[in-house]
Amino acid sequence: MDDNKPVEIVINGKTRLFDVDTPDLPDWITKSAMASGGYPYEKKLNKDVFKAELEKLQIELVKVQTWQQASGKRVIVLFEGRDAAGKGGAIHETRAYMNPRTARIVALTKPTETESGQWYFQRYVSHFPTKGEFVLFDRSWYNRAGVEPVMGFCTPAEYEHFLKQVPAFEKLIVDEGIVLFKIWLEIGQEMQLMQFHQRRHDPLKVWKLSPMDIEALSRWNDYTEKRNRMLKETHKGKAPWTVILGNDRRRARLNLIRHILTGLDYTGKDEKAIGEIDGKILNSEHHFLK
Ligand code: ADP
Ligand code: AMP
Ligand code: MLT
Repeated sequence: MDDNKPVEIVINGKTRLFDVDTPDLPDWITKSAMASGGYPYEKKLNKDVFKAELEKLQIELVKVQTWQQASGKRVIVLFEGRDAAGKGGAIHETRAYMNPRTARIVALTKPTETESGQWYFQRYVSHFPTKGEFVLFDRSWYNRAGVEPVMGFCTPAEYEHFLKQVPAFEKLIVDEGIVLFKIWLEIGQEMQLMQFHQRRHDPLKVWKLSPMDIEALSRWNDYTEKRNRMLKETHKGKAPWTVILGNDRRRARLNLIRHILTGLDYTGKDEKAIGEIDGKILNSEHHFLK
């Protein structure tokens, strides 16, 4: 990670040079990061407001867990989105006060040789919840709809085959009685650059910056195409996607948890604590999904 070459990037029709190692970010990034991708707010949510709201929501998540233990209900929340969209942080805040024994995070590495000879879904299924469990997937089988075709880790035929199988696969999951949330976290291009830069220069975050992320910089458009195709083919009746705009991570996290809570029929639900979902941030009818 020591000598990343500056990368040529086309943003809004302009060719720019991005150097993740530079100590100071240029204005063209910092000034447009929050607004990038058409984000509807200029400033991130006030920190105290965020913390107060988050705590109320985390209390509700604890109730969800008690309810799951009593009812045996199984829940899967899967997170997809570009690099630095905020998947890791959103998962962390959701799980923060839940019992680590029953609320598990699944973040798989690339398939082993044995796994790559199996049915593609097999290694994911083996991490599915048993009764009472709440499983958060940090990336999922949807690798085959994004990073794999973009980076050439699967063949075009495997990609097409995957897109065909997904709706049937997910129908089985939902018919089985497992609650499935599919979250797409969206980030703007300049915000992604700012996040990469921050990771590069923050000793607590530097592990999050992978060579794949640098690779992804020049493949923004290919990822966009793959995102659109994925949503088009897999936004289906029983297993719809929810799009959450993520430039402000605070708003994204609050609305994510509100969405999960709204979708679960748990005991002792406090509608007032859940509050209102911000339709500008979280949208089940997002234009991506049309
Ligand atoms: P992160 O999830 O932290 O963004 P990376 O950007 O390094 O991690 O990798 C993105 C995804 O690509 C991961 O789920 C990883 O397992 C997957 N991946 C990496 N290399 C391969 C490969 N050769 N074949 C298939 N998947 C891969
Ligand atoms: P801070 O120290 O919280 O002011 O943030 C440092 C940098 O990270 C700033 O450039 C912020 O814009 C960015 N940042 C921090 N938190 C968020 C957030 N919740 N949403 C978007 N950007 C953030
Ligand atoms: C994210 O922020 O979306 C996750 O941490 C994944 C990544 O490393 O980009």
